[in-house]
Amino acid sequence: MNVFGVDIGGTGIKGAPVDLDKGDLSEERFKVLTPQPSTPESVIEGVQEVVTHFGHTGPLGVTFPGVVVDGVTRTAANVDQGWVGFDARTKISEKLGLPVVVLNDADAAGVAEITFGAGRGRGGTIILLTLGTGIGSAIFVDGRLVPNTELGHLELHGHDAEKKASAKAREDEDLSWHHWAHRLTKYLAHVEMLFSPDLFVLGGGVSRKAEKFVPLIEGIKAEIVPAELQNNAGIVGAAMAAAKL
Ligand code: BGC
Repeated sequence: MNVFGVDIGGTGIKGAPVDLDKGDLSEERFKVLTPQPSTPESVIEGVQEVVTHFGHTGPLGVTFPGVVVDGVTRTAANVDQGWVGFDARTKISEKLGLPVVVLNDADAAGVAEITFGAGRGRGGTIILLTLGTGIGSAIFVDGRLVPNTELGHLELHGHDAEKKASAKAREDEDLSWHHWAHRLTKYLAHVEMLFSPDLFVLGGGVSRKAEKFVPLIEGIKAEIVPAELQNNAGIVGAAMAAAKL
């Protein structure tokens, strides 16, 4: 089937057609910058630009960096506040004239990773964390997702965890890999205290540099592995959701 995924992020909107047998993009992805301010109207125009670039006409999966329930976006930590309470599924579907499913970005990435990537064939409790502009989370128990878990917003030492431990925090504060890994360790220890997962999968663009920080994380009982689909996981997961439409 001809399915397509779009990943809306704080900095870019990227998409591609997806080969669901391989769990990979079937063409090179196309990206536009996320407009600023990232209002729903301007971002939807970006989504349309990405989709029409490929001339796609079929089901469309779209990820969003916030809570999404029944196609309505409920939170917007790193995008314009106009998304709070916005019926994204209906609006995108009307604008593009396609059947649309909207889901949380980390949930989409997690579904792709446990199907085609680092969590493939594994049971038990798996927590995928995307370390990017914010921190996204997806929790799986024997392959079944608990959606919209938002573990990036756990409070850690009086701070919103993602403000201290995301990849953006490392860049903004110019932290060494050691310093950032130390913060990540504290964050992972907190998540482990709450959920005792069997496996942590660490995703987001920074997972490409896993060898620089994963070996520096100490004292966590769960196995820790980098994501395998890296920056394409959201697109693949979105397309997988679209295939069910
Ligand atoms: C949002 C999550 C999202 C994560 C990664 C967080 O700020 O609250 O919903 O998954 O960023 O984009």
